[in-house]
Amino acid sequence: MTTRKTPETLRSHKWYGVKDLRSFGHHSRTAQIGYHRSDYMGKPIIAIINTWSDIASCHSHFKQRVEEVKRGIWQAGGFPLEMPAITLSEAMQKPTTMLYRNLLAMETEELLRSYPVDGCVLMGGCDKTTPALIMGAISMNLPSIFMPAGPMLRGDYKGKVLGSGSDTWKYWAELRAGNITEEDWQDVENGIARSPGHCMTMGTASTLTATVETLGLTLSGATSIPAPDSRHQHMATLTGKRIVDMVWEDLKPLDILTATSFDNAVTTALGLGGSTNAIVHLIAMARRAGVDLTLARFDEIARRTPVILNLRPTGKYLMEDFYYAGGLRAFLVRMGDMIDGSTRTVSGRTLAEDIAGAEVYNDDVILTRETALVAKDGLAVLHGNLAPGGAVIKPAAMEQQFRKHTGRAVVFKDYNDMAARIDAPDLDIDKDSVIVLQSAGPQGAPGMPEWGQLPIPQKLLKEGVRDMVRISDARMSGTSYGACVLHVTPESHIGGPLALVRTGDLITLDIEARRIDMQVSDEEIAQRRAAWKKPIPKFSRGYGVLYLKHVQQADKGCDFDFLEPDYVDPSEVGTD
Ligand code: FES
Ligand code: MG
Repeated sequence: MTTRKTPETLRSHKWYGVKDLRSFGHHSRTAQIGYHRSDYMGKPIIAIINTWSDIASCHSHFKQRVEEVKRGIWQAGGFPLEMPAITLSEAMQKPTTMLYRNLLAMETEELLRSYPVDGCVLMGGCDKTTPALIMGAISMNLPSIFMPAGPMLRGDYKGKVLGSGSDTWKYWAELRAGNITEEDWQDVENGIARSPGHCMTMGTASTLTATVETLGLTLSGATSIPAPDSRHQHMATLTGKRIVDMVWEDLKPLDILTATSFDNAVTTALGLGGSTNAIVHLIAMARRAGVDLTLARFDEIARRTPVILNLRPTGKYLMEDFYYAGGLRAFLVRMGDMIDGSTRTVSGRTLAEDIAGAEVYNDDVILTRETALVAKDGLAVLHGNLAPGGAVIKPAAMEQQFRKHTGRAVVFKDYNDMAARIDAPDLDIDKDSVIVLQSAGPQGAPGMPEWGQLPIPQKLLKEGVRDMVRISDARMSGTSYGACVLHVTPESHIGGPLALVRTGDLITLDIEARRIDMQVSDEEIAQRRAAWKKPIPKFSRGYGVLYLKHVQQADKGCDFDFLEPDYVDPSEVGTD
């Protein structure tokens, strides 16, 4: 049990509590920003790491929310300091926000380390912001609480409900097939994201915030509240109040996060029918906390976990419906003994105590384990000669005839090659072919973008084909659909076997056996490997060089090696 903090044992005391020349600077500069000693002396100083910017469309309400967080901090006797951090705007940033997740994680950690901070509120929600903020906060291990952005309202188009991502792909396919007009398409554009908040399907954002709540890092029930709902404002204020007490209680991420809490988070991601991106991010967060979460563990948990949430892309509803149906707390109650309620949360209580009494108000949105949408195997981890380090697929969100399938590979050497040729009328491809994209992984793309839902060739779309087996070392948007084998490890750019596949090779996907193989002999693979040439690195200067030198593969969560807790710089190891 940790002992309660006193004003003298606060971390910020080293800046403000000592009488020296440096502390004169700290006091005079705090006066410069308008605060008298009586505003902050002896109080917990709370950094609010805010990922707001004009281009962070999902966080457009954070300018107001941060005021509500501050209100809570003041009320509880703390001293708030807002600290902006790099914006990762999923829909806007090229080549992918994933390239910058670790940069935001580093920035979070270093802001907390270098300033007089006793505890922090992490404001995020759009895809990579959530894991990045949490990763940084775990490494610094000061009392931390996550303030989730909340989902946007349901989309609306000509009386139809629109879901982020899922309906983009759907109507894009309809536009390409000539079934809707350009005018219709622009109506979809204006109706699909009509309020602040993150994507409201069970995509990466909703999956990640929900898993972070299950991990115990948000107020109970916080992540289901739609961003524009006034209850979201209440939650923001309560979050600000709670962090002040957490500082006095000295309740830190590493007091909360255990192997059991990560198992609960994996179970949650799977039970929600969540995004495959959660795999990479949960592994990265777990490793920061010293928990060795593996792909094998995901597969084990997936084999027993039903999908009981009826949300797109697996099901029918959206996050707003989930909230009205009881939200994550009700979902966790429904998961019953699949969730171990003995873990701790930011409330200071156990998860079981936090969710006690939560009820389901709509059984068609939150199902039961008996009426589950998918009984098990919402996710499958594959191995084989194409992916010795593992690959993943979401069997629940694909056409079921592909569960066991052999087809002829049609290989694209990179994204530009695919963009240039996929719709060519003379491309030799049919509905049984297996589309392969190389060079789309952490180093190859770079940044492992969400290219994994490879496009169906236009001529096949016109024939009514809506799904095919597709393979890449990329990730896939959590709102995507299809028989897409993702996260192939090791990636092709560093010489993984995916680099050696050629058009015409037969590839077999067998989900029951958890296999992905090319029907090419070991001798032939060895010959191709000998002839393989290492491609030119994608960056020659700047942050990109740091990224390429240190990013790990997908099975390790794509974190930088030097950010792992037990990292020792090889150049610093003595020889005597
Ligand atoms: Fe921000 Fe989807 S674009 S969560
Ligand atoms: Mg996304």
